[in-house]
Amino acid sequence: MFGESRMRWFLLVVVSLGLGLVTGESSYNHYRLPTALRPQKYYLRILTQLENPEDFRFSGNVKIIIAALQNTKNITLHSKDLTIDETQTTVRQISGEGKTNNCVTSTAVNPTHNFYTLNTCQELLAGHVYELNLHFSAELNRQLEGYYRSSYVDPVANETRWISITQFEPASARLAFPSFDEPGYKAPFVITLGYHKKYTGLSNMPVKETKTHESLPDYIWTEFQESLPMSTYLVAFSVNDFSHKPSSLPNGTLFRTWARSSAVDQCDYAAEFGPQVIQYYEQLFGTKLPLAKIDQLALPDFNIGAMENWGLLTFRETALLFSPEFSSLKDKQELSNIVAHELAHQWFGNLVTMKWWTDLWLKEGFATYVATLGVEYIHPEWRSKQLESLSNLLNIFRKDSLETSHPISRPIEMVSQITESFDEISYEKGSSVLRMMHLFLGEEAFRSGLKSYLERFAYRNAEQDDLWESLTQAAHKTGALAKNFDIKTIMDSWTLQTGYPVITVTRDYTERTAKLSQERYLLNTDISRVHRRECWWVPLSYTTQAEKDFNNTAPKAWMECSQTGDRLEKTIQDLPGPDQWVIFNNQLSSPYKVNYDSQNWKLLIKTLNSEEFQTIHVINRAQIIDDILYLAWTGEQNYDIAVQVINYLQREQELLPWKAAFDNLKLLNRIVRQTPNFEFFKSYMKKLITPLYEHLNGINDTFSSIEQQDQVLLKTMVVNWACQYQVADCVPQALAYYRNWRSEANPDEKNPVPINVRSTVYCTSIKHGSDEDWEFLWTRYKKSNVAAEKLTILTALGCSREVWVLQRYLELTFVPKEGIRKQDSKRAFQAVAQTEVGFLLAKKYFMDNLDFISKFYHQLVRSMDPLLESLQLQVFIRKDYNEFKDFVSNSQGSLKGSEKAIRQSLETMLTNVQWKERNYYQFIRAIQQYLKAA
Ligand code: BES
Ligand code: ZN
Repeated sequence: MFGESRMRWFLLVVVSLGLGLVTGESSYNHYRLPTALRPQKYYLRILTQLENPEDFRFSGNVKIIIAALQNTKNITLHSKDLTIDETQTTVRQISGEGKTNNCVTSTAVNPTHNFYTLNTCQELLAGHVYELNLHFSAELNRQLEGYYRSSYVDPVANETRWISITQFEPASARLAFPSFDEPGYKAPFVITLGYHKKYTGLSNMPVKETKTHESLPDYIWTEFQESLPMSTYLVAFSVNDFSHKPSSLPNGTLFRTWARSSAVDQCDYAAEFGPQVIQYYEQLFGTKLPLAKIDQLALPDFNIGAMENWGLLTFRETALLFSPEFSSLKDKQELSNIVAHELAHQWFGNLVTMKWWTDLWLKEGFATYVATLGVEYIHPEWRSKQLESLSNLLNIFRKDSLETSHPISRPIEMVSQITESFDEISYEKGSSVLRMMHLFLGEEAFRSGLKSYLERFAYRNAEQDDLWESLTQAAHKTGALAKNFDIKTIMDSWTLQTGYPVITVTRDYTERTAKLSQERYLLNTDISRVHRRECWWVPLSYTTQAEKDFNNTAPKAWMECSQTGDRLEKTIQDLPGPDQWVIFNNQLSSPYKVNYDSQNWKLLIKTLNSEEFQTIHVINRAQIIDDILYLAWTGEQNYDIAVQVINYLQREQELLPWKAAFDNLKLLNRIVRQTPNFEFFKSYMKKLITPLYEHLNGINDTFSSIEQQDQVLLKTMVVNWACQYQVADCVPQALAYYRNWRSEANPDEKNPVPINVRSTVYCTSIKHGSDEDWEFLWTRYKKSNVAAEKLTILTALGCSREVWVLQRYLELTFVPKEGIRKQDSKRAFQAVAQTEVGFLLAKKYFMDNLDFISKFYHQLVRSMDPLLESLQLQVFIRKDYNEFKDFVSNSQGSLKGSEKAIRQSLETMLTNVQWKERNYYQFIRAIQQYLKAA
């Protein structure tokens, strides 16, 4: 029947052409919609038929009420890959006197910007309101964007089930219906879905009424209540056969968590956690959630992690489902963080939306930051705020030290630039600068500033200056900021400039002062820093060895910039004498690095390597490790000093310093393990790790007796490193766990491997194991019902050292019917690429199959970039760098949309080359000396 109706549509389009409706290339070529018109309301009806997988299509019509702000002779909106039946198009004036039917003389398209223009018979007049009616249809696609299909196998009936779902952000509403698809065009939506009555239809709002379909047997129309004004990218709907777990909010708001029936028991945790976070936000923001219901949906096929559609949040299964038997603590924390993030968007993003994608960070940075507060509030025992804050900072220190990074707030024209912006800079740097503000303003000013920002811009759009204004007012009112300071001046230096500073502290031990200067920290040492002019407004908190007050994060002074934006030196008075250290940036409250004079480093080394090391705040211990390893990498300190700092880790039993250390040592490891001197590095690592491994009882299952929950994560991390370096009994114990699992009668139900070390146990067993061990795990992958477990397995399967096994794995990764979903393929690829043996295979596979891979991903958000990133880490020879550079410049067509990732990969490779050429021997000598002395 679909074939038939498509035929009819086709004919009608031809007929319409015969009647004189000509479709041509549009001459309008600006990347933004013209501003003469403004949508006021959408009535959207979509019919979805899921009976015939060979020909899944949907059809619909949209009635848009449009106000004319200026006279215009055309209506331009977005439409992409939609077949529009132009014989049914109507335009009517619906306000004022002499309401008349207008008509359309011709239409035009602009494929670059996805514009669809209707030229009207009569001019649309400013001040009048019009109604545009369009009928359209399209394929229910397989590309995980727009309105698309997803499937899963129901284990009871052993049948494939099909569902439909939308993903519109940032620019794919236009794939599902013609619309003014820019975030600034907010309007209420009245949505009606038609589908077979055996399914459930969901959308942003609660159901208003259901009617039987006028002609299709067993089909119904479900109309949803009119929504609040919202941007098109937040519209969502789904037709599915899921089950749900109900919960609710104290005010009666319905809250439901949905999944395929066989996974609905994994919804319990999110169903409990979600409402708790909402209540916390209502209190934090001082604004109630303006929604009548919230649904959260776990989708088998979902490209990104999760999406905050208003009232209908969508997640990939790992981001919503929790299984006590299969999910690790880390899985649970990540999931909580994602739910908290998407719920935070209901305020930051949905209620108040950025004017344009330039200010994407206003929602993504906020959701990221606020989520850490939400998770901390509900699970203080995890101590996840510290960890999240540090992880964000560690990430941006790396990404933003590249010359090819970009400012938080950046101009955007093409859709590819929008998708590029969903990156560490918008999320993690955005979050870090918000944290900085929170810490320098204090609780009261920060909260009241946010509250007034949300109130002023509710149901509207804002840009960063609006936020600065609300916060400045609040800060002046509460006295948190001196009247001659304003937030805009300070914060623009962080959001409009690329990068972050390194502050050099040079103390005068007799005068008891210190001189501070700043410059941008750049990893690429080919770039001279001297002539650069960047200047940041830096809040300076610090403490001394006598004071040790790391809790006070309020600035004692500011590093300022001149009127013309130039750097100014700063002198700090009243510091202690030569027997005491100072530490700047209490709790790493601002994103900058610090270098000290050699005496201060000596003092720090002394305290760290003594019983007293814990008198330095745990975040600052992590800071010192990260800073010294960066400074040594770029040659501003030598590795002798760095090794002396790192040695203190033999005493360290807290997660954060270890996290900072491993993040850096990992990079050294990837290079050094391919060189003749790896044995020294191995011994060195063993020496560092062994005391902690033993302290935590190795890989033995002592998890239930660990009280402090972040020690669970520490143990997970240390065990992983210990098995890599074959510390103590790690490998044989891991293999023993795996053997026990393999001898279980029903290994899919019963798994004796402790959950929190499964990734290590699996990886170690695949690495040291047989072909049968690999097959066993692959079978578990295919049979598992828990997405988190599947992901753990996927990564472990890349640990093999058999070339043929890895080659087969790479090949099956990109064939969906083998069992790996498109969204997970990058994880499998990364798993292979990050190992010693797999790296060259993955690189070759990527280079040989680039066209195929590029078609496979179809320019999906965040798809190719992770592949490119995993290829950068093990390149450290100039020849390999040049080879990769030639390869990408010869393959620009297939790599379209990944330009930023390529620039950054190349720069990272170059910094590896520089390190190898400049530092390698110095580094090896430093650890050799240490090993000799010990
Ligand atoms: N708004 C984003 C979803 C998104 C990401 C849309 C990229 C378009 C492109 C959502 O709020 C989000 O940030 N999701 C994250 C998870 C989050 C916890 C970091 C994601 O999908 O990675
Ligand atoms: Zn987000």
